[in-house]
Amino acid sequence: MFALAPLALLALAGLASAERVRTSLNDGWRFARFTTNPDSLSYSVLQPWMMPLANDFIVTGTKYPAPSGTAPGPNISYVQASFNDNAWQQVDLPHDWAIAGPFGAPGISGGMGRLPTNGVGWYRKTLTATADDVDGTKSIFLDVDGSMSYTAVWLNGNLLGGWPWGYASWRLDLTKHLRAGNNTLAIRLDNPVENSRWYPGAGIYRNLWIVKVDKAHVAQFGTYITTPAVSTTSATVNLVVQVENLGTATRQVDVTTTIYPLDAAGIPATAPVATIKTTTASLPAGAKLSLNGSATIANPRLWGPPPTQTPNLYLAVTTLTSGTTAIDTYTTRFGIRTITYSPTQGLLLNSERIPIRGTCNHHDLGALGAAYNHAATVRQLTTLVAMGTNALRTSHNPPAPELLDLADTLGLLVLDEAFDCWSTSKTKNDYHLLFPAWHEPDLRSFLRRDRNHPSVVFWSIGNEIPDQGSALAAREGAALTAIVRQEDSTRQVTTAMNAASEKDALPGTVDIIGLNYQGEYGSYAAFHDKFPGKMVMGSETASCISSRGTYLFPVSTSNNARYSAAGGADATTKYISAYELGNPGWGGSADAVFVAQERGSPWVAGEFVWTGFDYLGEPTPYGGNGGARSSYFGIVDLAGFKKDRFWLYQARWKGEQAMVHLLPHWTWPERTGQVTPVHVFSAADEVEVLVNGVSQGRKKKGGAGVYRFRWDEVKYAAGEVVAVGYKGGKEWARDVRRTAGRATGLGVSVERAVIDGDGRDLAFVTVEVVDEKGVVVPRANNTVTFEVAGPGKLVATDNGDPTDMTAFPSASRKAFSGLVLAIVKADKGGRGQITVTAKAEGVKQGQVVITAK
Ligand code: GAL
Repeated sequence: MFALAPLALLALAGLASAERVRTSLNDGWRFARFTTNPDSLSYSVLQPWMMPLANDFIVTGTKYPAPSGTAPGPNISYVQASFNDNAWQQVDLPHDWAIAGPFGAPGISGGMGRLPTNGVGWYRKTLTATADDVDGTKSIFLDVDGSMSYTAVWLNGNLLGGWPWGYASWRLDLTKHLRAGNNTLAIRLDNPVENSRWYPGAGIYRNLWIVKVDKAHVAQFGTYITTPAVSTTSATVNLVVQVENLGTATRQVDVTTTIYPLDAAGIPATAPVATIKTTTASLPAGAKLSLNGSATIANPRLWGPPPTQTPNLYLAVTTLTSGTTAIDTYTTRFGIRTITYSPTQGLLLNSERIPIRGTCNHHDLGALGAAYNHAATVRQLTTLVAMGTNALRTSHNPPAPELLDLADTLGLLVLDEAFDCWSTSKTKNDYHLLFPAWHEPDLRSFLRRDRNHPSVVFWSIGNEIPDQGSALAAREGAALTAIVRQEDSTRQVTTAMNAASEKDALPGTVDIIGLNYQGEYGSYAAFHDKFPGKMVMGSETASCISSRGTYLFPVSTSNNARYSAAGGADATTKYISAYELGNPGWGGSADAVFVAQERGSPWVAGEFVWTGFDYLGEPTPYGGNGGARSSYFGIVDLAGFKKDRFWLYQARWKGEQAMVHLLPHWTWPERTGQVTPVHVFSAADEVEVLVNGVSQGRKKKGGAGVYRFRWDEVKYAAGEVVAVGYKGGKEWARDVRRTAGRATGLGVSVERAVIDGDGRDLAFVTVEVVDEKGVVVPRANNTVTFEVAGPGKLVATDNGDPTDMTAFPSASRKAFSGLVLAIVKADKGGRGQITVTAKAEGVKQGQVVITAK
């Protein structure tokens, strides 16, 4: 339902799609990684050949001339057709060369995930062109959605250019050097060490496309749709189409755009609801022109976030016609909505106040690394939506384009973020090295790529820029904000500040006051008072840390406790207590953030929690030598298993859902008779806790500032603990934990039992270590081994344990707090039953069947 590309949708609707053909170039590559430079190339040598690509995105700066002299590289064997790459690895894209491990990569810190991201990577592929492709009437482009990093491309030995920033989406024109028959495409990437504060991934980790189109066509990111006047009865749709002619003769083209509503499955209606009047343009050779058009849609179906609104979408189909021949069709999906950034009310979508219930997320997909996978992204976002989240911050860089398509469909509000630093570094080899030459093209191309997505509601130009109080930060912030306003005046811009004062110049340069953690410490009001015209929000909050299912004693009596050896953290096992109280010395528990949000209600617009999912790298507080490999911040762990905190957020963000969640587990043979606090997360009015049928007291929801129910004097006795929630005096929901016996078996289940046999779709298989009654053994750490039979393969395993250094592709993995995850894909073209068997010594094996179709 989420996967269809707009052109496929058109075909479904029976609409003609003219000449443009966009095909995936993901399959069938050869790859080699080198830890020492194999070719004596470097960014400084390649840069002059990369810079001209930036010219399309330079307005205020100086454009770059074509480089002089001989382009580097033709003498390197990897770019030559004659090179025999049979010994290189066979890979399909998106590809992350580092994710297979092993952990402990030399020179890579815990902060970066201890995986081998560094080095030079070469990719090679034979590209076949037909005589038609090279008949001089077409342009053939290579579109790169993302490639980590310093990427340079050769076609038949000719260096065509490249792009250094790993998060950018960019385009190369292959036409000049493409021949009929076989062509050798060779791509070089180069990742320095110390280039990120988290796991960046490595390789061509997003999709690669070939776009074939008439020489006169809609340019890259060539449409911009805005809806300046919206009411329930009418919406004005303004469209700018950029057309270019890369041919040698002047062309006359007619540009027409028709607008179709899309249904919930993304299928366009057969009849259009509006048509933008045809414009005729004369395009001299080499020209690029912007054409403006407008139309009115009666009774528009607005885009807005569930549950109170619906994310309705429209499709604009732009056709270029030359004479009577349609020469290009370009589709743009968009939504119609109004946004109000109110300094007194917070965020309003279509005039309704929407509290921002967001999470921040890095781009990795756990055991799959940074390689974009749609099924894994759908899993992440739908898990967060089930928690009641309505917003997402793409910390701290542009996401894969498909993530925004998905956010449009789900109705998520996106804080689309560009940078983690400007000209001042955070790590030795990070973006500050590129900032001077590339910030303008990187920012403009990001804005042009993403500005038609209705889900994008805010732009962020940066996260926790060093020296926020400095004149330099203010100058750079102002320059970046100006660029945003030039490219898109329909949304406000922020920068996420953790150490700014309301007296500094930087906050004055942006539209929205975005505060990281400072809000929890009382700064919301200071900024609100100083900037009465600006909306205020928690652009990053909480940073609570925990390890799923590991409960440490004693438990702090405070609802917000800095973790320490005395409470909440175990430096030997490197686990942090799952009572969900611990903050790392900044930020606070979820509870503490809710207090701060309420204090500022309604003018504090909401929050983006750090983070929705655990991510690779930044294993605070165990980032040092011998420490862990992935974060403890997630509400959901790296394997996608929910931590208890999930239900704390659900209780607040989705209070209408009948739910009671209790913790801890109830298998503590060593604690009989000892105090073992029971905490409950629920939106109930009252909750009663019973241990083996004996009431521990019925408690009313605490007053202002209390977001959990606590029974801190409960003494452990084997058996069961039950929590019963009441609303209006009636039982509303209940939860139970039973004491588990010895582990005797493996319970195996799958989230989606039917997957596509396209070699990319994934099934997520969960194994629970259970006793003979089927109760999960909560501290089980049995080693589970997976076997996959039929037309599928095991891709990776995980358990959500930040300290587990077993490489992700391993078929064997220890359970962590009773659970293990296997990620399985169907073979390309695979059809039929895939059987996944899980085995562990001394217990009964378990099995699940997945159907590939
Ligand atoms: C913030 C930062 C995030 C992450 C987080 C951990 O200061 O913006 O990227 O490092 O701290 O708590």
